[in-house]
This record gives sequence, structure tokens and C-alpha cells, in this order.
Amino acid sequence: MFLYILVLTIIFIFGYIYLLDIRITNTWSKNGIPFYKGKFGLGYGWEFFTGDKPLFMIYDKIYKRHGNVPAIATRSFLNPVLILKDPENIQQITSGDFNAFSQRGTVVNGDVDLLADNILFMNGNRWKLTRQKFTPLFTSAKLRNMYYIMNQSAKDFVDLMAKIKLNEDNFNLLSTFCSAAVSAAVFGITTNSIMDSPLLEMAKKTFTPTFKSNLKFALANASNRLFNYLKIRLFSDHQDFFIGTMKKVLQARRESKVKTHDFADLCIEVQKNGKMRDVKTGYEIEPTDELMSAQAFFFFIAGVEPSAISMFFTLFELARNPNILKRVHDEIDEVFEKSEGEVTHEDIEKIEYLDRVIEEAMRRHPPISFLSRKCTQDTVLKVGNIPVHKGCIVQVPTYSIHHDPKYYPDPEIFNPDRFTEEAIRQRPHYTYMPFGLGNRMCLGMRYANLQVKTGLVHVMRHYTVQTDDLNTKVEYRKSPVQLKANNINFRFVRRLLN
Ligand code: HEM
Ligand SMILES: *[C@@H]1O[C@H](CO)[C@@H](O)[C@H](O)[C@H]1NC(C)=O
Ligand SMILES: *[C@@H]1O[C@H](CO)[C@@H](O)[C@H](O)[C@H]1NC(C)=O
Repeated sequence: MFLYILVLTIIFIFGYIYLLDIRITNTWSKNGIPFYKGKFGLGYGWEFFTGDKPLFMIYDKIYKRHGNVPAIATRSFLNPVLILKDPENIQQITSGDFNAFSQRGTVVNGDVDLLADNILFMNGNRWKLTRQKFTPLFTSAKLRNMYYIMNQSAKDFVDLMAKIKLNEDNFNLLSTFCSAAVSAAVFGITTNSIMDSPLLEMAKKTFTPTFKSNLKFALANASNRLFNYLKIRLFSDHQDFFIGTMKKVLQARRESKVKTHDFADLCIEVQKNGKMRDVKTGYEIEPTDELMSAQAFFFFIAGVEPSAISMFFTLFELARNPNILKRVHDEIDEVFEKSEGEVTHEDIEKIEYLDRVIEEAMRRHPPISFLSRKCTQDTVLKVGNIPVHKGCIVQVPTYSIHHDPKYYPDPEIFNPDRFTEEAIRQRPHYTYMPFGLGNRMCLGMRYANLQVKTGLVHVMRHYTVQTDDLNTKVEYRKSPVQLKANNINFRFVRRLLN
């Protein structure tokens, strides 16, 4: 009996794949779009599931295999997937034809999973209104007011570095800095050093994957319907503590006269304006403490790891490139000497070469290795005249585009001059996307840049970096989206300043 069911199931699955295959290959092959079948016809799904390569490296193989085409069709198990190559189509799905691609395709149960009810996971009117109301919280004026927190965070971090044993796990050390800095930016500075914040422990635990959390994410991925039906909460373990903390902070802010300019403070301003309302659609949301907590939570899930990855690879590439390292040190030292140790927000903004170094590090090693959009209404991509059906997942292979010699000659070479104004002008648009593109682009980009840069400026004032991996080809660890290295490292060495 069991065997009978098993055989039927297998026949059914392969039959389904076969039919789907015909549908997909027919519509797409007519337009000259190659189809990547992968193992057992399951696209790259099987390869990713059973192999040890990160997803973006599988995309990269597919991207390189097919030369001059606007896109490659494939699937992840049964889901049709389109991998884009052409920048104009990338423009179309991220901005031009946004209505058909307004979602990323990740699922959460926002009604019960309170912390997941944030801009990163929301969709439709709810996303639009919330993003609209929170965008003004990330202007340069707001960030300038917040700078004192980043300055303090960077100094506390350098103080900590002087006290501990360095170079045991530098990625972990940088994540600790990013968690602490984000905690301070969201909840304010509550302890003598931000590194002593009681929230730090929680922040670190939240993002250490456990068997249970992996299982939940896997189910969210495998079957949206089942995941919704079971009302699974991805972030339930942290919900009470996180919301409780935020409620206390918000209450304290309501009673206090002092403006602290951190995110909690800004949430109070949003709440003061009463119900959030979209004038066009009439859609309304009550800005409750819970909703504010969920937005605060996106700083942690969307912000901490990619910032740490960006710092890690910037330092690693500096260690590998002594000439560039020297120029960065000179630039930073000049600022410190002029300002007698007191680096202001304006000083940070004036440090230009380091910007280019960070940009180039995020080209070579984009912390978020690809972008995702889900098609929600049938449409046609302009270049190649490619029909895309509702339900299809469209991927923008950030890593591969960042390494396409058409846009970046000698892509393996680390060269910050790719980001001079002149060089940027000469490149086609939509070929650089560490923070994504279009309407759903990273909301925290400016915040992240300032935090990463301020951290690096203070660290590089006191430390230099060295590596034994001068010519090692970087290998990346298997991970769904984020990019982490397997086989390379660098060490901090204290500088002798007089
Ligand atoms: C170096 C650090 C960071 C990198 C590389 C990064 C990158 C990204 C990328 C690639 C996306 C997807 C964009 C798309 O689909 O087009 C994204 C979305 C987002 N990021 Fe970041 N991010 C960083 C830091 C942060 C920080 C610190 C915050 C919080 C303050 C943040 C908040 C968000 C939010 C809210 C979204 C979702 C936007 C939406 O769906 O409307 N990010 N980020
Ligand atoms: C930066 O931090 C130092 C040490 O905590 C403080 O003395 C200085 O005033 C801060 N500067 C700014 C611009 O916030
Ligand atoms: C599931 O994960 C695969 C790769 O792991 C990804 O390509 C696909 O878009 C995901 N599907 C959903 C529905 O999230």
C-alpha cells in the first residue's frame, strides 16, 4: 500500500513538472530564453538543497553559462523562476512596472507574528502606507541628529577592542559592534558603554539560527499555504521581550522632555500624528506600540548582519591591498589631526576615498547576494519580449551583475576608482545594487552607510589590518541570501600613534 502511494506520488510530481515544463519552455523558448533544467528537471532547487554552494553561486554558474541573453528561465523545485541579465528589465521589475512586481515573495503571518508586521515583509497598501510614513525618519537631517549615537558607538567599540583578545573571530566581533550600535540607535544609549547594553544579548540570540527557526523558514519556503494555514510565527520567541522593551522605552520618552533623536523618539512623533492614513486609498493603520516595535525590529533583522558583512569585507580587501590601505589611513589621519580627535558628522561626510572603498567592497562581496521579486499580475518584460506569469519568481543576480566584465572589466580586481563620479557616469544604470533598487530599495541605506563608515573611521584610526590570504580565492559559505566567507581572514594590529 505504502509503496503504491509512493509510486503514484512520484508519478504525479514528475507529471506535474513535465506539464509545467511544457508551459514554461513553450512561452519562453519562443522568445529565445534558454531554460536551465538542472538535476531531475527540478531547476536549481535540488542542487541548492543537496549541495554545499550558496544560491548566488548557482545563479552565477547559470548566468555565465548563457552569454548574450536577456534572461534565463529555470525553476526552484516546482516554482517557475526567471533570472534576469538585462539592466533595462531590472529597471522594469524594480520601478517601471512596480505594480506587477511589488512583492519579494517571502511569506509571514503578519496578523499573529507581530514582529513580522514590518516594512521588510509587508505588502500592498499596508506596505505602501507604512513605508511612506517611515521614509522621513531616514533623511540626512535626522541622521545628523543621530550621529552622536554612532560616534559614541564607534568609540565604545574601539575601547572594547583595546581590552579583549582580538582576531579570534573578527566577523563575530564586527557583528557585536553592529548589534550594539543598532540597539543604541533604536532604544537610545542606556549604559555607560553601548557594549554593556542588556539588549545586546537578546539581539545576538535573535539571529543565531536554531533548529526550530530553520524549520520554520524552510516551511515558509516550501509551502506558503500551509505556513499561512498553520499561522506559524517566525519571530515568536522574541515577541514578548522585544515588544515589552519597546513599550517601556516609548513610555519613558512620552514622559521625558529631552529629545534623544533615536528611533524610539521618532516613533513617538509618528504616533503623535494619530492614525496613519493613505489619502489616495483611504487605507488606515493605527500606529500602536506593537506596530512601532515591529518597525524597530527591522533594524535588527535587516540591518545588523549586512552591515557587519560590509565592514568585514572592506577590512579584508584593505588588508589585501596595502596601497589602498595606506591611502585610507592617510585620509583618516588627516581628519583626526585637523579635528584634534573630535570627528564630526561633517568630517565623516568629507571622507571620500573610504566611501569608494566601501562601495567597491560591496560590489565584490554584496552582503545581500541577489534581489527577489514575485510577479503578481501577468506582464511582459520589454527587452526580449518575455511574458511573465503571475506567481513567477524573478531574481536579480546582484553578485553576477557586479562581476560581469561588460560593466566591470577585470571584475576580480579590487579597484575603488570604479566609483569615481566619472566612472559611474560611464556605466549603464541598474548595474550596481548592494542596497537593491527601485520602490523596495533598502530603507536603511543612509543609516547603514553612516554607521559602517563611522565605525571604520574610528577602528582604522587605531588599528591596521593584515592578512595571509593575499591571493586566496574567496569561497563563500552556503547560506540562502547573505554572503559569508569560508576560507579567508584578516587580523587587526594596533597602530603606533604618537
Ligand atoms: C550595509 C548594510 C545593508 C545592506 C547591504 C542592505 C541591503 C538591503 C537590500 C539588498 C534590500 C532589498 C532591496 C530590494 O529588494 O530591492 C534591503 C531592504 C531593506 N533594508 Fe537594508 N541593507 C542594509 C542595512 C539596513 C539597515 C541598517 C536597515 C534599518 C535601518 C535596513 C532596512 C531595510 C528595510 C526596511 C528594507 C525593506 C524595504 C522595503 O521592502 O520596502 N537595511 N536592504
Ligand atoms: C563623540 O564622542 C566623544 C566621546 O564620548 C564626545 O566627547 C564627543 O562630544 C562626541 N562628538 C559628537 C560630535 O557627538
Ligand atoms: C524558496 O527558496 C528558494 C531557494 O532556496 C528560492 O529561490 C525561492 O524563491 C523560495 N520560494 C519562496 C516561495 O519563498
